[in-house]
Amino acid sequence: MSGGTTSYTVETVKTSPFDGQKPGTSGLRKAVTVFQQAHYTENFVQAGLWAGLGDKLKGSVLLVGGDGRFFCEEAAHLIIRIAAGNGVSKIVIGKKAILSTPACSHIIRKYKLSGGFLLTASHNPGGPDGDFGIKYNTDNGGPAPEGVTNKIYELTKTIKEYKIVSNLKVDIGQLGTSKFTVGGEPFVVEVIDNTADYVEFMKQIFDFPAIKTFLQTKRVLLNAMNGVTGPYLRKIFVEEMGLPSDSCLNCEILPDFGGKHPDPNLTYAKDLVDIMKAGQHDFAAAFDGDGDRNMILGHRAFFVTPCDSLAVLAANLESIPYFRQNGVKGFARSMPTSEAVDKVAQRLGKDCYQTPTGWKFFGNLMDADKISLCGEESFGTGSTHIREKDGVWAALAWLSVLASTKKTVQDVLLDHWNIYGRNFFTRYDYENVSSEAGEKLIAGLEAFIKNPNSKGTTLTAPTGQKYKVAVADNFEYTDPIDGSVSKNQGIRILFEGGSRLIFRLSGTGSSGATIRVYVEEYVKSDNPSAYEQDAQAALGPLVAIALQVSKLRELTGRDQPTVIT
Ligand code: G6P
Ligand code: ZN
Repeated sequence: MSGGTTSYTVETVKTSPFDGQKPGTSGLRKAVTVFQQAHYTENFVQAGLWAGLGDKLKGSVLLVGGDGRFFCEEAAHLIIRIAAGNGVSKIVIGKKAILSTPACSHIIRKYKLSGGFLLTASHNPGGPDGDFGIKYNTDNGGPAPEGVTNKIYELTKTIKEYKIVSNLKVDIGQLGTSKFTVGGEPFVVEVIDNTADYVEFMKQIFDFPAIKTFLQTKRVLLNAMNGVTGPYLRKIFVEEMGLPSDSCLNCEILPDFGGKHPDPNLTYAKDLVDIMKAGQHDFAAAFDGDGDRNMILGHRAFFVTPCDSLAVLAANLESIPYFRQNGVKGFARSMPTSEAVDKVAQRLGKDCYQTPTGWKFFGNLMDADKISLCGEESFGTGSTHIREKDGVWAALAWLSVLASTKKTVQDVLLDHWNIYGRNFFTRYDYENVSSEAGEKLIAGLEAFIKNPNSKGTTLTAPTGQKYKVAVADNFEYTDPIDGSVSKNQGIRILFEGGSRLIFRLSGTGSSGATIRVYVEEYVKSDNPSAYEQDAQAALGPLVAIALQVSKLRELTGRDQPTVIT
């Protein structure tokens, strides 16, 4: 394939700024219709190139990959044309612009690319009426740090023009390399296989033959939720591991994810939960739209919270060849994630870092070799093998643990709690409340934490349980590597005995505000009748206290959360 000898010229297009192009927790996410406005996507991509690459823009080599949602291919063509207009020398792109987020991170690292644009709104619904998103990742394969995203935002506020080669047409549906001449300089587009690099990498990290042997006597289900993981699941679990093809569900990538939320949790992956409840299967995993999130279930839909999943993997990393070879440094979790992993770290004598919400905060710790494994309550688990969280990796990690311990998922958890105690955990989300109500709720909690009498006060649930406040603050993080400070990362009310309440506003919503309430109740290991009880029952009293102290019902008018995870 080749672009022939046609020489293309660069156009400079006049534009003016759009409000609100501030990248959130994970890039810029908005309704598709917002991205479809003339110049909107162009402005953001141009700002991303300037801020992400600075004086390295000319001659850079960038990756483009997306989760296959509506508008991905159109955005990919725009990025190619704008990159060509800005002197980028080469674009590496997945066939039809499809690559999972973890695969993007791996490919940037493997081929030492300058960075990349990831086209996804993760687990948000897709389609013409759904969401779209663009995220810039740097040359370490991870999401751009705040220094870069703030710069992108600043540039979007003053942008006056962008550079583009608007008549450049590239066939991204065929593997191969196309060569063009733009303003006298060569410009190359290489279309690569969607799964090959990633699958080969997983084979290096895990003991595929051992997992394959283990799977011969097990029945498992893997649910792609019509997101990007479908082809990866088929390659790994059907072609490599020999599972029957009906063990991989919803593997066709659909631009609107079949009209559903491609988010692996008990609400949006309820179909899978229901199948698992029937008791025919030993293990199941589900993945989000772009393949970085995961949910793990055992026999009869035994649910592993992402917080416990992180802790169990931390305690069992020696079952994975990658960690036997590279050793295990410390661990990290986002602040709202339960302290279950801290307990493992303590016992193993490892460091455990607590970062703000957002995978980008793990990047520096990984690059500085401080941690080997990290995770978030928001169904994200990952390691130093890349700089994004990785859903398929997490499923393979769990299968490695099951294969080596020869235990069921439930027994792995029961044995874990027996050693460490149990951090019951739930998150209540109130989606699409007014920004005003969200801000009022946080302001009220600010007043609570600033009140000198709050510390030491005892909060009592309607059912009588008492919790004494040990610490109340707004979480602030100083990055131990670059010293950067991130303030106001969430209200924390920490109780004596290790239970916690956290409140924050989501940074990934695309309209209004989403209030997240994180509830954690710690039960010591010497109390099996307590740690074996139902999670929502165990958490009931603290949930009631959370609603009282935040005045959530009064301020939002909401009686029930939109989603409970
Ligand atoms: C994305 C990010 C995660 C983050 C999650 C929730 O998945 O990659 O790092 O934890 O969104 O973020 P939010 O700000 O909506 O709570
Ligand atoms: Zn995602």
